[in-house]
Amino acid sequence: MLERLVYRSRAVQTFSSLHLFELLSQSRLKNQQQGITGHLSYTDETFVQCIEGPPAAIEALWQSLLRDGRHHQIECLQRGPQPNRRFAAWTMAFSSYAHFNAYNMPGFFPVDAQGRSEAAQLCSMA
Ligand SMILES: Cc1cc2nc3c(=O)[nH]c(=O)nc-3n(C[C@H](O)[C@H](O)[C@H](O)COP(=O)(O)O)c2cc1C
Repeated sequence: MLERLVYRSRAVQTFSSLHLFELLSQSRLKNQQQGITGHLSYTDETFVQCIEGPPAAIEALWQSLLRDGRHHQIECLQRGPQPNRRFAAWTMAFSSYAHFNAYNMPGFFPVDAQGRSEAAQLCSMA
C-alpha cells in the first residue's frame, strides 16, 4: 500500500538557490533510501510538497517535517492511500522560478508567472 500526503508551509526565511539545492540534494538521497517520491514547489516563500511512499516512511518524514525549524504554518492539505505513484520518476521533483535553479538540478520544472508548472499541476490534482 502506498500513501500520499500533501502539505503547504511558509519558509521562516527566504531560501537562496544554494539552500534549495542543498535541501533537495539531501532530501533526494534520503527519499531514495526510504522509497519516497514526490514533488516540492517553492514560490513566494511558500512550499507545497507532495510525498508518496510506504505509510511508515511517510509518517516518519511527516514528523521530521513538523519538527523542521526552516518552515512553519505547516498545514496538511491531503493525506490518504493511493494506488499508483504520480512522481515515480523523481525522488523529489522541484518546481520554482527559473532563477532558483542556479545549480541546474535535474528534475527541475520552471513555473510560469502564476506559479504553475506541469509537475506542480500533478501535485494539486484531487
Ligand atoms: C520544505 C522542506 C521539504 C523537505 N523535504 C524533505 C524530503 O522530501 N525528504 C527528506 O528526507 N527530508 C526533507 N526535508 C528535511 C526534513 O524536514 C528533515 O530535516 C530531514 O528529513 C532530517 O530529519 P531528522 O533530523 O528528523 O532525521 C524537508 C525540509 C523542508 C523544510
